[in-house]
Amino acid sequence: MHLKTLSGSVAAIVALATPAQALLRFGCAQLVVNRLDPLVNPGQIPSAHLHQIIGGNSFNASMPPVEHDLPSLSTCTTCQFSEDFSNYWTAVLFFRARNGTYKRVPQVPNLGFEGTRGGMTVYYMQDALFDYGQTSKVTAFKPGFRMLVGDASFSTRKQTSKFRQLTYTCLQERSTRSPETLGFPDKPCPAGIMANIRFPTCWDGVNLDSPTHQDHVSYPAEGTFESGGECPDTHPVRIPQLMYETVWDTSGFNDPELWPLPNNTDGIQQPFVWSMGDRTGYATHGDYMFGWKDDALQRAMDSPCYVNCPTLKTQTIAEQNKCSVPDVVKEDIDSWLTELPGISSSKMTMPMN
Ligand SMILES: *[C@@H]1O[C@H](CO)[C@@H](O)[C@H](O)[C@H]1NC(C)=O
Ligand SMILES: *[C@@H]1O[C@H](CO)[C@@H](O)[C@H](O)[C@H]1NC(C)=O
Ligand SMILES: *[C@@H]1O[C@H](CO)[C@@H](O)[C@H](O)[C@H]1NC(C)=O
Repeated sequence: MHLKTLSGSVAAIVALATPAQALLRFGCAQLVVNRLDPLVNPGQIPSAHLHQIIGGNSFNASMPPVEHDLPSLSTCTTCQFSEDFSNYWTAVLFFRARNGTYKRVPQVPNLGFEGTRGGMTVYYMQDALFDYGQTSKVTAFKPGFRMLVGDASFSTRKQTSKFRQLTYTCLQERSTRSPETLGFPDKPCPAGIMANIRFPTCWDGVNLDSPTHQDHVSYPAEGTFESGGECPDTHPVRIPQLMYETVWDTSGFNDPELWPLPNNTDGIQQPFVWSMGDRTGYATHGDYMFGWKDDALQRAMDSPCYVNCPTLKTQTIAEQNKCSVPDVVKEDIDSWLTELPGISSSKMTMPMN
């Protein structure tokens, strides 16, 4: 079964599968929603725009590489696998009313993770196939590894195509998995919008990070991860396909009376906007700081794990929900806001084509 046709019934697939290797799919509750970005704006309180963050509770504004050892500084994690103290984050989705005010869109758990407080679903894959295909060897990330995919300043389809696989699924129902679009869906999505972030899968084997947070990783030389493309000589080490799914519950904003009028002068026909001020969807991005304890991730990737992973320690959703970090920025993110947190109206990104 191909990624694009993954149905919600992972449990049914699991029953059929005899995996050679691992595919991890797990839920993580919300750690915090805050204007912090220890990767791109380290030490800055508040950072440029609002993020929603999951994972280990050592997360803070300043996490110097290597020195800030996520597994030893964390005392809990919001993720199902309790040896995973990594941090994962994305921008935050807002609804923009006709009167120009903004309301934060709630996050809801994905299929199979009911009861989780907000958060995301995280995948680590060896191959694109969702059934028997997880056979290729991958090298787990090393302590201190971090990366970013996407560009918060992008505003065109052409720009975002560079990343190939940052997409949206307009959920007709919670199990909808296709089609995927590069921009925000242009029609109301009855069961919400799923934002899909897939990271590059090749590493230079040397650098844990790079000034752009992107140059130490690469897409396959030709084709894609899904088509089995080989890593380029510059980035020869095959790493797991890391993927995030965030389900934004837009159902409270689906009334056509709330959507932009067809004659609106700015040309934008849908009401959602990322916390950077992007109304196109093309500026979607995801950040990752590796923080698995010891060799837990490599051990899992070398074991017959398929969604459930007996070699890893698992905690309950109730335990995941208990982990959080304090809000250090303390700004209003939940009223009807006249401006997005940290974004003056003049910085709003408008579509170029
Ligand atoms: C963030 O974590 C570091 C450890 O890397 C610690 O030294 C620092 O005090 C923490 N900062 C805040 C604001 O809590
Ligand atoms: C703006 O529109 C929203 C959605 O219709 C509404 O809830 C809010 O009260 C309005 N705000 C003002 C200031 O009119
Ligand atoms: C757009 O259409 C609405 C009704 O459909 C009308 O009230 C409004 O004046 C129109 N605005 C412009 C700029 O033409």
